Amino acid sequence: SNTAKKNADGALEIGGVELRDLVAEHGSPAYVLDEDDFRTRARAFRRAFKDMDVYYAGKAFLCTTVVRWVMEEGLNLDICSGGELAVALRAGADPSRLGFHGNNKSEQELARALDAGVGRIIVDSLFEIDRLVALAAERGVVAPVMVRVTAGVEAHTHEYIATAHEDQKFGFSITSGAAFEAVAKVNQAAELRLLGLHSHIGSQIFDTSGFELAAKRLIALHARVSDELGVDMPELDLGGGFGIAYTTQDDPADPAQLATEMGKIVEHECRAYGVEVPRVSIEPGRAIVGPAVCTVYSVGTVKEVALDAGASRTYVSVDGGMSDNIRTALYDADYSCTLANRSSDATPTLARVVGKHCESGDIVVKDEFLPSDVTPGDLVAVPGTGAYCRSMASNYNHVPRPPVIAVKDGRTRVVVRRETEDDLLLLDMGAE
Ligand code: LLP
Repeated sequence: SNTAKKNADGALEIGGVELRDLVAEHGSPAYVLDEDDFRTRARAFRRAFKDMDVYYAGKAFLCTTVVRWVMEEGLNLDICSGGELAVALRAGADPSRLGFHGNNKSEQELARALDAGVGRIIVDSLFEIDRLVALAAERGVVAPVMVRVTAGVEAHTHEYIATAHEDQKFGFSITSGAAFEAVAKVNQAAELRLLGLHSHIGSQIFDTSGFELAAKRLIALHARVSDELGVDMPELDLGGGFGIAYTTQDDPADPAQLATEMGKIVEHECRAYGVEVPRVSIEPGRAIVGPAVCTVYSVGTVKEVALDAGASRTYVSVDGGMSDNIRTALYDADYSCTLANRSSDATPTLARVVGKHCESGDIVVKDEFLPSDVTPGDLVAVPGTGAYCRSMASNYNHVPRPPVIAVKDGRTRVVVRRETEDDLLLLDMGAE
């Protein structure tokens, strides 16, 4: 994060708080959320995309405090479940600034969204369109709708998080004509107000050509709708997916540059088709919250494992693991880490940071050079864990989930408390 620095004695400090003090007070592991960093990134997107709307994608990380920050910084919020809607409403979010996603929203979820006055519902199937028509009719309201389309783009990212190729569950295909039919269906329903098209090509994307291609295909469809149905849709959403640097090898695009490029393409294409330029929105999640959090762990054991040809690997076991960060195991994600409580002149040796769970795939950081004198009691910090770590955390092995501690100006504030064993037993109805 922006405020991270190492003090003279090697102690890592974030938001003016030394991590060893934070751990002494709040325990480990902990997600450390840098408020200034989060707000700076949110603001950077807001400024860069000044003629557009920026929806923070809550799936990356959500709690009421973050909803509050998002609203204060002038961003809107993308939610994709009744649970995320509940967090947003609990935080006092303006419902008209919410966008509701999902390929299988339940009737109850759609009803709650309508009752709350959610600003846009992104529909993803013909069944959903029918459901929404019925629910809106029952209530005598008109539902604001965007249509999720599949742009048919091969995004260069992990297969599980790419979403614009044809053979996956999201959206209506442009190529097959399904997208046009869905738009026509929404357009002729009196209970629905057609806002525009929506596409999200995938996540952790560096190559901006995917966005360009998606924008071009969306505007071609947008123009066809204008031409054949006689409606000029007022909005266009290009989704999220902007990549961040997890290791020094990654080179992410800067929001301002992205904004300029996207704006130019949309304008150019609209002019070429002779249609009015719709209001564009984007939905970054990772690029805002990812770098704003680091996870701090305590080292519990260190083990030297002999490899072939005389080589060896140091396994550093920490007090969390795949339950607080599944991304390494699930997507083969790369993270880095650093010794956070002291400096060391010991030789850097190749280490693997692993968790405490009962499987060998429980790896947090695959390869990192750590000083050879790393020992139980040391703290290891893993940066860049703001996105899809707490939000995808589990209780595997009945391990309680770590707290989220916000830091700012030398002070800490628990924004999500640590889970307790009582929390874990809360749902267990007890043995007879
Ligand atoms: N909009 C839509 C419709 C999305 O589906 C997503 C992410 C976003 C926006 C935000 O994407 P972002 O800017 O955060 O990349 N769990 C995976 C990522 C899944 C992304 C799902 N959709 C991971 O840990 O990499």
